[in-house]
Amino acid sequence: MNRIQIKKALLIAAALAATSSAAAAGKLEIFSWWSGDEAPALDALVKLYKQKNPGVTVDNATVSGGAGTNAKAVLKTRMLGGTPPDSFQVHAGQELIGTWVVANRMEDLSSLFKSEGWTKVFPQDVIALLSSKGGIWSVPVNVHRSNVMWYNPAKLKAWGVTPPKTWNEFLTTCAKLKAKGVAAPLVVGENWTQQHLWENVMIGTLGSQGWKDLWAGKLKFTDPKVVAGFTTFGKVMDCANKDASGLSWQQASDRIADGTSAFNVMGDWAAGYFTTTKKLAPNTGFGWTTAPGTSGTFVMLADSFGLPKGAKDRAEAINWLKLAGSKQGQDAFNPLKGSIAARTDSDLSKYNTYSKSAAADWKKNKIVGSMVHGAVAPESFTSAFGAIIDQFGASKNAQGAAAAAQQLADRSGIGK
Ligand code: GAL
Repeated sequence: MNRIQIKKALLIAAALAATSSAAAAGKLEIFSWWSGDEAPALDALVKLYKQKNPGVTVDNATVSGGAGTNAKAVLKTRMLGGTPPDSFQVHAGQELIGTWVVANRMEDLSSLFKSEGWTKVFPQDVIALLSSKGGIWSVPVNVHRSNVMWYNPAKLKAWGVTPPKTWNEFLTTCAKLKAKGVAAPLVVGENWTQQHLWENVMIGTLGSQGWKDLWAGKLKFTDPKVVAGFTTFGKVMDCANKDASGLSWQQASDRIADGTSAFNVMGDWAAGYFTTTKKLAPNTGFGWTTAPGTSGTFVMLADSFGLPKGAKDRAEAINWLKLAGSKQGQDAFNPLKGSIAARTDSDLSKYNTYSKSAAADWKKNKIVGSMVHGAVAPESFTSAFGAIIDQFGASKNAQGAAAAAQQLADRSGIGK
């Protein structure tokens, strides 16, 4: 090549580079409640996205607040106002299907599931949870387990107690700990964490089939078994701290780590918090077992991302969904998050002892869905149930709470 040819070649190369970076330049807005302590797993996924899509500016919009209590309200305003984010976090199941799918605001992702081979790598039960009206409506990034009871192994040893296996045993252990001067053997936080506890007491009381029957409308909330579950829940709450309403789930977890309380029933994002944020080791820094009465049952929920109709940056959003559903994406996100991959081909060597135990149970346990985290009940039920829990906290009237819950179930069309 002579000098002129070289110059020409360089000019062409520069022009090509300019066009391709112009083509790649773009934006993506994702929306979630994973901020602060909850952010590391999402940050890892965003980092991967940026590596794969270097020209795209990512706006990682978050509205903090455990379980999405605040984020869901903001999302509603944006969806109804016609300014949806390009993709948003939502629980797999009724939380999306009963809201934005029935309102015809979501794109059907069936063809993406086919082209990415996801119909084969996600478990059929998970796909069923994401599906309705012939469509598949979001991409699951994980599977979280919600029926876990966390404790501090060294403190339990010092107190001379072992994790209780049933709720009755729990109450005996609670009395023992109180006698030893532990003011709050159980720690709970703000309202949604109490609902989380309630569902674990209920599943531990009714069994997995009873829980399924409740959401199928085959078992009434006014049934004596459910009323008994409320009564037990009331007694369990008597073991808890009095400042619950002001505590986030992270602050409640802190009280396990620092040994103020003996037990906390929380989803396994707590494992992510203990290991990723607090740098504690499974089995020594924190211990876990299934919530009383729920051994052999895996109460599941899945975080997923959907594609709203009218997303401004649709192509970038599709690339985001592809990454969220990929093996590489899931195995970058989940080891930090405390959850396991929704995919069946994930590389378990990347996960800690806690997550390995969850993955083993996921394969062999009976699977039921969480109400408070959007899997089994319509959003109209879930969003109003918090008031029943608050009222019950004040009155401890199990019959009254059960009757109110049944009225809400009827209004929400449960079993219809
Ligand atoms: C759940 C969500 C988890 C975690 C948790 C606490 O609803 O599925 O990923 O974020 O809330 O905020």
